Amino acid sequence: MEKMIIHGGAPLRGTVTLSGSKNAALPIMMASLLTSEPLVLSNVPRLRDVKTAMDLLTQLGVAARWIDDHRVELHAAKVTSHEASYELVKTMRASFVVLGPLLARTGRARVSTPGGCAIGARPVNLHIAGIRALGSKIQFRHGYVEAHAEKLTGGRIWLDSPSVGATENILMAAVTARGRTVIENAAREPEVQDLARVLVAMGAKISGAGTHVIEIEGVERLHGAEHEVIPDRIEAGSMMAAAAITGGDVTITNAPIEHLEAVATKLREAGVTVEANGKGVRIARNNGLKPVELRTLPYPGFPTDLQAQMMAMLTQADGSSVITETIFENRFMHAQELARMGADILMKGPTAVVRGPSKLSGAPVMATDLRASMGLIIAGLAAEHTTELSRIYHLDRGYEALDAKLSSLGARIERAQEQ
Ligand code: UD1
Repeated sequence: MEKMIIHGGAPLRGTVTLSGSKNAALPIMMASLLTSEPLVLSNVPRLRDVKTAMDLLTQLGVAARWIDDHRVELHAAKVTSHEASYELVKTMRASFVVLGPLLARTGRARVSTPGGCAIGARPVNLHIAGIRALGSKIQFRHGYVEAHAEKLTGGRIWLDSPSVGATENILMAAVTARGRTVIENAAREPEVQDLARVLVAMGAKISGAGTHVIEIEGVERLHGAEHEVIPDRIEAGSMMAAAAITGGDVTITNAPIEHLEAVATKLREAGVTVEANGKGVRIARNNGLKPVELRTLPYPGFPTDLQAQMMAMLTQADGSSVITETIFENRFMHAQELARMGADILMKGPTAVVRGPSKLSGAPVMATDLRASMGLIIAGLAAEHTTELSRIYHLDRGYEALDAKLSSLGARIERAQEQ
């Protein structure tokens, strides 16, 4: 196992380019099951989760291969298995979105239920209700969801909450269903919109992606397509918080600023310069940070996937910041680790009060999930002396070449073997 060693204190300066979005790439890869023709994707990040998705597709009979550094060809000429195993789904919850396309293509699917995870219960009831509304029979047996439908038929689905994964699963199940499907209270995330763009390029008829109501007119079959995955807005926000905490000056060449309104607003409130110029989006800070109040919300609200990074940054604000987590019930695990580095954080239910500025001092720390790991790296960049982050397999699930990118901006960060 590896760990990351961060020597704090160096301001980040320079230019960085984002990788493709993990959360867009994963469901889009699953869409390859919907056609017997090749799907070619570019700007696919080289991540552990992407490898897990390739492994899952391979197990289902898809010919999955890298064509070059960031291009993947997925060819589901025949689908030879109907099962996504417990081993795969427990490694990566996003595997569960295979249910919709697998069922649509073959008439049946057996997919392990994901169970809980470090940040909360994360049930899949909305996915199931949606797939059922399209006429599938569903049974729960031995920890698996077994779905069966000769031919799915369009239906009207109202989601209790705008779940990203449920919207994607239902969308992929509905594109070749007989008739019309309407998903109300759908997730509006840019990643859902990117999936819809691919499906349309494959011949699907979809309108309203990016709004609360998505309408799908089922078509007989889909064909192959080529698609470039959108840049990763969560990586962008992470780099922004890293630049800000170090008092740096960083330009992100391909930051999707239109997907980062809530994040840019909160950073500006905190006294950070965020400006789009001809070269990209520049993030700079000369003065002290100011405290802010923020709530995580479904898109276009502030993303829960940037809450830990923002919390780390706000330990350096002059005053009390209030962070409320409304998406996941247990997503403050990083707070205790930040406290070990000297942060002053008071937690009460879904709210954390971060009192700053605290002098952070490097410490051995450990994270329980991907974004929490990034929060601890950000704190380490501003801490005195050395921070050692263990269990960095979490980071490698979702950040491509993070240490190389941060080093190129002047951070002193390196990998080492755990003893
Ligand atoms: C996706 C993202 C994840 C992000 C999250 C919220 C991927 C691969 N992952 O996860 O990084 O943090 O969106 O932006 O894209 N819920 C239910 N029943 C369901 C489904 C969800 O109650 O059937 C609840 C969840 O427990 C959670 C909330 O809805 O509290 C949001 O979850 P959801 O939007 O589904 O997140 P994911 O798609 O799992």
